[in-house]
Amino acid sequence: MVIDVIVLAAGQGTRMQSQLPKVMHKLAGKPLLAHVLDTARQLNDVQITVVVGHGAAQVTNYFTGAALNWSEQSEQLGTGHAVAQALPYLRRDSQTLILYGDVPLISLATLETLLTNTAAGELGLLTVELPNPLGYGRIVRNKNGAVTAIVEQKDADARQLQIREINTGVMCLSSNDLRAWIPEIGCDNAQSEYYLTDIIALAKGRGRVIKTCSPDADHEVEGINTRAQLATLERVYQGLVANQLMNVGVGFADPQRFDCRGSLTSGTDVFIDVNCVFQGEVRLGNGVQIGPNCVITDASIGDDTVIKANSVIEGPVKIGNRVQIGPFARLREGTDLADDVRIGNFVETKKTRLGRSSKANHLSYLGDTEIGGGVNIGAGTITCNYDGVNKHRTTIGDGAFIGSNASLVAPISIGKNATVGAGSTVTREVPPENLAIARGKQRNIDGWKRPIKK
Ligand code: UD1
Ligand code: CA
Repeated sequence: MVIDVIVLAAGQGTRMQSQLPKVMHKLAGKPLLAHVLDTARQLNDVQITVVVGHGAAQVTNYFTGAALNWSEQSEQLGTGHAVAQALPYLRRDSQTLILYGDVPLISLATLETLLTNTAAGELGLLTVELPNPLGYGRIVRNKNGAVTAIVEQKDADARQLQIREINTGVMCLSSNDLRAWIPEIGCDNAQSEYYLTDIIALAKGRGRVIKTCSPDADHEVEGINTRAQLATLERVYQGLVANQLMNVGVGFADPQRFDCRGSLTSGTDVFIDVNCVFQGEVRLGNGVQIGPNCVITDASIGDDTVIKANSVIEGPVKIGNRVQIGPFARLREGTDLADDVRIGNFVETKKTRLGRSSKANHLSYLGDTEIGGGVNIGAGTITCNYDGVNKHRTTIGDGAFIGSNASLVAPISIGKNATVGAGSTVTREVPPENLAIARGKQRNIDGWKRPIKK
């Protein structure tokens, strides 16, 4: 089946009180519209047209390069008028599926069910029963239970207002029918808008069958109008992600204090403490332990590695097995840690590799550095990688020992098993097995008296 998706995204979202178009507000770090598009793209043989209006440039810029048709609705005259703007993009004999850009959590399974349940010539509607249907279009059925119309809240009579089955807005029908019927929709109603929902009565009048089905979960069809609704749906989403992770063996101190804004895959016996944020693509091996308040972006973390409280990983970063990180460590892009490495508090790494069992336990900056295995980086060691114009590399051989508070002025290489004395500023190569000391010699003055206050 060839499918044309129309996503309605022209609305302003007045109630968000924002300069940003509503569909660009983020849920789990991603614009609402991107959630809808990512789901719709997974349908077979699909082509997607997005109807934009308010802040159109901001929306289209974000999706530059994506395979999408854009259709501009300069005045928001209703959902029927919005769909009319997309008609030129519909392919002959395709099936059209209509989605809303501000209903982000619709699932692929629900869309597939709606499409397969709707035979050629029928119209498929996604509906739900709500305890409080206020504000929604009501599904009107005849005494045989067949759908005959949708009546909007503002146009409904007292009896229709009692109906609890509502229109989610998601529908599908043949593109040829849609093209034929849209021009027949008028705007003689309480809001003087062109209601897409009038198409139901038009279809019924032509003797067409209207099928309905429901999503697996109500959150799939929840739309965002306010920041409070967005915050609520964010928690719903995070709860779903946490549940999926618990099902594959991840333990949480508190699944309500967890945020995944990308994709997190994990082995078993992983433990995540409170207030951790995962962004981009993060992969955790088996037995990984993550302390409270860690922010981890684009990282792959090996088995049994421990990340202690308040550590920040700004990937791409690769971390081996049994590594210990933090508390208060910052691993930046291009950090690559072999197995059994230790990175302690207030250590920053960037474009740096540490070989097996090497340690940098306290207060260091290691940038553009290649460090072998079994190396000890003393507290306060700084690689001076930047001369104000260019970045330079440091290499440190296996087994080297860098004393505390050393400055290694790059480009520089420290040989295998070499030792750098504490407090040295090293500017020249240190050959293997050598000791380098580059600091003022100590002088003791016997009997020296401190000045006295006059
Ligand atoms: C619409 C439905 C209602 C349904 C409800 C579900 C109509 C007439 N009514 O009501 O039956 O219960 O959604 O949430 O369709 N939009 C445009 N251009 C416009 C108007 C709207 O792009 O001119 C977009 C909005 O940005 C939004 C979506 O269409 O994403 C729905 O519009 P909205 O005004 O929120 O719909 P309702 O009137 O609440
Ligand atoms: Ca409206």
